[in-house]
Amino acid sequence: MTQTPTINLAGRHLLTLHDLSNAEMQRIIDLAAQLKQERHSGLRDSRLTGRNVAIVFEKSSTRTRCAIAVALSDEGGQSEYLSAQDIHLGYKESVPDTARVLGRMFDGIMYRGFAQATVEQLAEFSGVPVWNALTDDYHPTQALADLLTVQETFKDLKGLRLAYVGDGRNNVANSLMLGCVKAGIHFVNCTPTELKPAHTLVEDARAIADQTGSSVTITSDPMKGVRGANVVYTDVWVSMGEEDEKDARLKLLRPYQVNMDLMRATGNLDNNRVIFLHCLPAFHDTNTKVTAESGALEVTNDVFEAPFSRVFDEAENRMHTIKALLIAYLTGV
Ligand code: CP
Ligand code: NVA
Repeated sequence: MTQTPTINLAGRHLLTLHDLSNAEMQRIIDLAAQLKQERHSGLRDSRLTGRNVAIVFEKSSTRTRCAIAVALSDEGGQSEYLSAQDIHLGYKESVPDTARVLGRMFDGIMYRGFAQATVEQLAEFSGVPVWNALTDDYHPTQALADLLTVQETFKDLKGLRLAYVGDGRNNVANSLMLGCVKAGIHFVNCTPTELKPAHTLVEDARAIADQTGSSVTITSDPMKGVRGANVVYTDVWVSMGEEDEKDARLKLLRPYQVNMDLMRATGNLDNNRVIFLHCLPAFHDTNTKVTAESGALEVTNDVFEAPFSRVFDEAENRMHTIKALLIAYLTGV
């Protein structure tokens, strides 16, 4: 396989996808593809030997937390998981003070929490690379894994069409919009008027789209919005920290459920030119506490389990893309 060109992001942060140039983003995706191939052929290396990363998480996580820990351990590095219960962050100690302490001990910080301002403060004060592992506003590492999954299916990202259906202003939707336009993918956001993304972010995304030959469309009509889509993507209707809005959100988003009718409306199901993606966790069945009474929410079980669903490849790709990020930011390659 041809070697991925050199990337060295030493001394930089990843707070939103704005922090990577289009070319840097593509190189990280390509490096992740290479790392995935290596790992699948049994190769583990030592590119992160002696590096340690603090995983500061104020919200729950399965995929992201495990992806960081496994990526580091695969390459000879180490991680320390610090939940809100474990450290003083934001209660007994200010964010700048915690940042300065962690920066004296760790080579980098992965942060998951609420305010975007917190991850910005960690970056400002720690003196080491800080990566946003999800805030209320953005989930950039997720978008990298999503794009790798799309690339694995269609080879070339440019010119594809991705329709996001659901809560159009959450962290995943925001980062996906930026990731798509940077990669040259037409992005369609199918969401009720009440949940449209912030105007300034849409303007930013449209400016990038103009350069890459892609586009951003916002529509409240999911059946029309998914027409021609190569990727149909959804996320939970109630994000972490928004639990109080559950009843109103469910009422608003029921017409936006991804089901077989919506997948057929892409016009791409019969020619195998469409896949389904979801960042996970997903409410597709009655097997969780949250959905016990209400059944499937944002996606029906037949779509979730269909051959065109790539959700578990996408979940695995969290690890390969995070590994690529860690290598690029901590060592360069
Ligand atoms: N997709 C994602 O970020 O999953 P976790 O919340 O399990 O980390
Ligand atoms: N939007 C979701 C993503 C979970 C990975 C949330 O913030 O809960």
